Amino acid sequence: MSSRDEPLTPATVEPLLRGRFGRPYLWSESCASTQDVLRGSGLPEGAVAVSEHQTSGRGREGRPWEDAPGRALLLSVLLRPPAGSQIQELSLVAGLAVAETVEEARDHASLKWPNDVLLGGGKVAGILLEASGDEVVCGIGVNVSQTDAELPVGTRLPAASLLTATGRKLDRAELLASLLVTLEHRYDAWRRRGLVSLLDELEARNALRGHAVRVGGEAGTVVRIAVDGRLALRRDDGTEVLVASGEVEHDGRG
Ligand code: BTN
Repeated sequence: MSSRDEPLTPATVEPLLRGRFGRPYLWSESCASTQDVLRGSGLPEGAVAVSEHQTSGRGREGRPWEDAPGRALLLSVLLRPPAGSQIQELSLVAGLAVAETVEEARDHASLKWPNDVLLGGGKVAGILLEASGDEVVCGIGVNVSQTDAELPVGTRLPAASLLTATGRKLDRAELLASLLVTLEHRYDAWRRRGLVSLLDELEARNALRGHAVRVGGEAGTVVRIAVDGRLALRRDDGTEVLVASGEVEHDGRG
């Protein structure tokens, strides 16, 4: 194992911040989950918690999110979307921001609806939304400098890091600052104009289009990401159905 990356301390990261996300910026060497640092904290929108290591990092559907200390971006961002917002759409908003950020290292990242970011066929990042009251804690895990040996095995999708996918060791602090400003821009666009304003960028990265899948009790070929963030499938009988949530499984027939 090579040495750890430079820690993402406030002294390193705060001078790189370019917007309102990351203010305040809460960093720790280790915590249970960055989600818990922000939940119910009363902090303003844009507060960010970052840790070098999580002892109980969590993913979707109750799965654990494992890390190699000092090798990933493990962050949570506090959002306060307007009342009545379709907050599940934030998974796609955040996924797009992560994809655009990692594309600075290598074209072309893709999105596996609803929340996985893929690079070179492996999953480099995942998003976890946790909502309560008027707040949403948006958790983002990006594998940055893990070697093959440091990546988790036995995951639903094969894991990759930006290092394994690009062969390049990237500066985590620069990456984090870039992700925060991109997320802020995409989030602001979503607040002002809705998901429709991001659909072209999302669809351009839709890893599932044209694939035969099973999801949410439905089976069909993925047609597109719909304007409300649902996944549009064409069934064998030609009818179209929109699926709001679920784990996508590739259908062996297709
Ligand atoms: C997934 O793909 O299942 C979502 C993974 C989300 C992981 C991030 S790491 C930072 C934040 N804290 C957590 O405990 N989980 C999210």
